[in-house]
Amino acid sequence: METGMVLVVVCFLAFFSKSLSFQQELTEIKMEGLREEVRNLTQRLQQLNTTLQKEKTGHIMFYAVIRGKSITYNVDTILVFETVIVNRGGLYNQYDGVFVADRKGMYMFSWTVSTSSSNWIVTELVVENQIISTAGVQNSGGGHPSGSMTAFCRMEMGDHAWIRSTGRTSSHVLYSNDNYPQSSFLGLLIYSE
Ligand SMILES: *[C@@H]1O[C@H](CO)[C@@H](O)[C@H](O)[C@H]1NC(C)=O
Ligand SMILES: *[C@@H]1O[C@H](CO)[C@@H](O)[C@H](O)[C@H]1NC(C)=O
Repeated sequence: METGMVLVVVCFLAFFSKSLSFQQELTEIKMEGLREEVRNLTQRLQQLNTTLQKEKTGHIMFYAVIRGKSITYNVDTILVFETVIVNRGGLYNQYDGVFVADRKGMYMFSWTVSTSSSNWIVTELVVENQIISTAGVQNSGGGHPSGSMTAFCRMEMGDHAWIRSTGRTSSHVLYSNDNYPQSSFLGLLIYSE
């Protein structure tokens, strides 16, 4: 009778210790899974952080004006906004008036042109060989009215963008005051792809 009891207890202990070690093993496996998940998440976080830092330092925008001038353009002439206020990324060239995209993405451009008494100026935004939009004014009265336009456009890396006079008239007169310039061109990267 006593031997029987001992046997039962021994069996129970053996089973209990076995199930305990099985539990420990299970916990260990779960822990390893969690560690791997944390490692994976940390790696992903670092990748996202690197991307974020790149976006920050890679921010691209320019704003340039024409100051104190009255210029007459023929047809198909690039307007050179020679006075740079900001040019982050250095992609706008103030000597030829052309912006060059250094990455594929969505860009925004906006420009304004003013004219003088009884003159016309009609311009267009061109990306490579595509006309994106037009802005201008046909002034039959006095003063210095202006035309303005804002546009979004997708650009490939290396694409060029510029403002040029159209074929609407053979003589476009642009006017801009020195102290308060009325003719300007700006652009910025909205997002890269
Ligand atoms: C961790 O990343 C590896 C490789 O991408 C993947 O095979 C594994 O399933 C991931 N583990 C967890 C727990 O997410
Ligand atoms: C992200 O990167 C910056 C610069 O490399 C670093 O100072 C910062 O601690 C990083 N943040 C995280 C959460 O890793």
